[in-house]
Amino acid sequence: MPFDTVVTETALKETARKDSALAPTPPMGWNSWNRFRCYGLSEEVVLGTADALVASGMRDAGYEYLVIDDCWQAMARGADGSLLSNPERFPHGMKWLGEQIHARGLKFGLYLAPGRQTCAMLYDSYPARELGSFGNEELDVATLVGWGVDYLKYDWCQADAGGTGLSYPGAFERMARALAAAPRPIVLSISEYGKSKPWEWAGDYAHLWRTTSDINASWRSVMRLVDSQHGLARFAGPGGWNDPDMLEVGNDGLTPVEARSHLMLWAMLAAPLMAGNDLREMSAETRELLTHRGILDVSQDALGWQGERVARFGQLEIWRRELGDGHVIGLLNRSRAWVDAASDGVSLLADARDGAGMRALAALPEGAVDVWTGAAASAASWRLAPHEMLLLRGR
Ligand code: GLA
Repeated sequence: MPFDTVVTETALKETARKDSALAPTPPMGWNSWNRFRCYGLSEEVVLGTADALVASGMRDAGYEYLVIDDCWQAMARGADGSLLSNPERFPHGMKWLGEQIHARGLKFGLYLAPGRQTCAMLYDSYPARELGSFGNEELDVATLVGWGVDYLKYDWCQADAGGTGLSYPGAFERMARALAAAPRPIVLSISEYGKSKPWEWAGDYAHLWRTTSDINASWRSVMRLVDSQHGLARFAGPGGWNDPDMLEVGNDGLTPVEARSHLMLWAMLAAPLMAGNDLREMSAETRELLTHRGILDVSQDALGWQGERVARFGQLEIWRRELGDGHVIGLLNRSRAWVDAASDGVSLLADARDGAGMRALAALPEGAVDVWTGAAASAASWRLAPHEMLLLRGR
């Protein structure tokens, strides 16, 4: 490659570089998609959610971004090419809504797509046209800035279709460049479902990058996403995070124990925590889980070290995450039966031939605290219900 081409490419990359200070720990908030999908979204839902984020204590626990996902848009762009909000769903418009969100001490997020179509146009028959940001990147960022947007979810949605010539990472780099020039800091959350190993390239541009296809509210889906995170830990850290998708805590399909393990796994993975349930009518149990200080402290540990599975004995997994002042060991029972340190567990461990696993268990912290109950817990006394996870935090 000639020297001046290299210089130009480097300069272009530099102009797209993100501000890492925007996401020192995994972003936390709420996103409309998992619960309201395309056709349940409205101003009423968003305002009610903003109020609930405050009233539930979630905002004060760290859930700061309120992100409106796909289907907020009018059916077509305006005469000058600008995106407009759907007037039936959002009668007061996005600028007003952004002010309402900010007035509650929250930050405002919106969804866009880099090609010609959004995913709901493709998969949910949202009857709109040309909502994609292809060729409109600067204009769309100006629109976001005018509305006071703080966070952009930018979702691939077959952006290479329709003759755009887009590919990864270029499609995302174009938006990152427009954002870097904006007079307002905007967190960039990108999504291409983990197809092109975004962990290898997205850290230059984005604060979080999806590593998987979409989650659904089932234990099977949660386990499938978790299993695809192995080996990705070294790509995450303060400023940029692997994103195994949003939370299904509080949505039908997971038992209370499964929902707790789901949140604990996301905390161990240093994954973004975007709640995806109806906050206006969640149970006290769901609220207590989502605001559980011990779990959130693991998630938001300033060291930003993503944890991982270090050993597996049949259906029992051992996880470990380093923290600024110690570490957490996780025991995850993936089976449909109880496991018990005093019986099955001990024989499992005695049988284990895995050296790394034995070392992980030997490292179970003395005087550790059970993160969920806050009580002192010994490595020798655990007992796990089907699909239960136990976190032990120690120095
Ligand atoms: C894709 C994304 C989802 C959601 C929808 C919206 O499927 O992965 O998270 O944003 O699009 O249409």
